[in-house]
Amino acid sequence: MKNRNTAPVGVFDSGVGGLTVVREIARQLPDENIIYFGDTARVPYGSKSQNTIIRFSEQIIRFLKTKHVKAIVIACNTASALALDAVRDEFDIPVMGVVIPGARAAVEATRNRKIGVVGTDATVQSGMYTKVIHEMASDVTVIEKACPLFVPLVEEGFKEHVVTREVIEYYLESMRNTDIDAMILGCTHYPLLRSKIRDYLGEKIQIVNPAYETAMDLKELLREQNMENGGATSEHSRYSFYVSDAAEKFRKFANTVMPFDVPTTNVVNIEEY
Ligand code: DGL
Repeated sequence: MKNRNTAPVGVFDSGVGGLTVVREIARQLPDENIIYFGDTARVPYGSKSQNTIIRFSEQIIRFLKTKHVKAIVIACNTASALALDAVRDEFDIPVMGVVIPGARAAVEATRNRKIGVVGTDATVQSGMYTKVIHEMASDVTVIEKACPLFVPLVEEGFKEHVVTREVIEYYLESMRNTDIDAMILGCTHYPLLRSKIRDYLGEKIQIVNPAYETAMDLKELLREQNMENGGATSEHSRYSFYVSDAAEKFRKFANTVMPFDVPTTNVVNIEEY
């Protein structure tokens, strides 16, 4: 690695969801260079087994390491819940996920000690959010609910579509009928439906997006390891985007999410890594 401080941070997700985390990192850490990988050929992760999610995560980290990243953010709750423990010790750079920051934000937000978590099937079945929340605050009641159709709705750009409202009602009616006062968007795709979820749930439930705390934790990690970029540019352009398929579709979508222009997206044969 030529210069550790100017090296980029690697961020990945199964598809477009992790862009919600990149957006927040770019806002809070504007001097950091970012290499993003979206596994658009293999999305969704939420219906896959733990072994497969670990294998995919290892391949992506190996690819990101070829870009000389100094740290990795797994901007995918599913991979954070099922693969972070396995990959963290396997690589010689820091790897962090979104579940711990998200859980912490919700524990801080709840007043009545009742938290809801929505996520993919795999995330909910892992019970990772409940485990992490209970390690932080054993008195908190956690209600988890899988909402698997939210991911394809987001990937298809269906935010404004009438079916999205119906799917939100189908999944979240039971959550709305509980007395939780905070709910974690435990999938990085879901913040892209946030305003619709907010319209349905109303004001009494605080919606927690782990992206904000994740960017704060990344800042802290880079500071602790003396790896912050002081503003010097690297040999990479500030933000680079890679996917495993359908680059143009991703690029168009990224331009609707990011506050800056995404001029190119590159395709990578991830199975080679
Ligand atoms: N955005 C990811 C997450 O946070 C994965 C969604 C999926 O691929 O199923 O869980």
